Amino acid sequence: MADVPTTYADPVHIAVIGGTGLQSLPNFTLAATLTPTTPWGAPSSPISILQHPSPSSGAPIPVAFLSRHGLHHEIAPHEVPNRANIAALRALGVRTIIAFSAVGSLQEEIHPRDFVVPDQIIDRTKGIRPFTFFEGGMVGHVGFGDPFDEGLAKIVRRCGHSLEGEGVRLHDKGTVICMEGPQFSTRAESNLYRAWGGSVINMSALPEAKLAREAEVGYQMICMATDYDCWHDSEDVNVEMVMGHMKANSENARRFVGAVLDELSKEEHGEQVKARHLEGQMKWAGGIT
Ligand code: ADE
Repeated sequence: MADVPTTYADPVHIAVIGGTGLQSLPNFTLAATLTPTTPWGAPSSPISILQHPSPSSGAPIPVAFLSRHGLHHEIAPHEVPNRANIAALRALGVRTIIAFSAVGSLQEEIHPRDFVVPDQIIDRTKGIRPFTFFEGGMVGHVGFGDPFDEGLAKIVRRCGHSLEGEGVRLHDKGTVICMEGPQFSTRAESNLYRAWGGSVINMSALPEAKLAREAEVGYQMICMATDYDCWHDSEDVNVEMVMGHMKANSENARRFVGAVLDELSKEEHGEQVKARHLEGQMKWAGGIT
């Protein structure tokens, strides 16, 4: 096999951050493998540049793929170098991130293996994760009332619903509780989150979504339920359960993300993504190599 290039000259506007169980994307051609460094260190994994033919023009559209927990799932949620991940993607030109995450369900009607397109987040991280680019004399504040990108969410929902005949069950809205971990919640916490109106729970939405907002990158998470946490009558969440459901449903997850990328690669969305790209440049992330 020919050596894979380690540089990629063109800007890449779209990225996927894969979580537990979504470590790669099939049916994409690997065009380059990049190992960037940033002022915030190295990202969680090498960044694969995958090429995907645009469904409208057939032209190859590059997509950056990053494994949030490392290539061998060796990075715990509280250890993910979120600033390096977002900065490295932004430096490539990324203005649209589709982030995938395994979640626990906090609601009866969200069954394991269902997908959720969340529209809100409640922060239950403990402030131990570096959570901003704005520090050391650079003061900035960004709005975060709607933590996800509604334009992207619409595309994601449409793609998810188009796969319903193929076994994808989708919930259009939901509030993600992002907890610290790595331990799962107590039963009292799980019930509290339900009382707060939480739909699903994970350890990964933050600070990823906040940093994407600071970097002016449109960000939407796709959640896949793997368990009922510990509030439900069924068995309490454990790692085998999470991995088991992820593995069993990985084909649907890949199909779903593939459909979203098809849609994003179409000319009209390409223009939207490009427009976002032109809106601003990442002046603050100098020194990325
Ligand atoms: N990821 C998957 N299931 C989870 C749960 N129950 N709590 C936190 N993160 C999770």
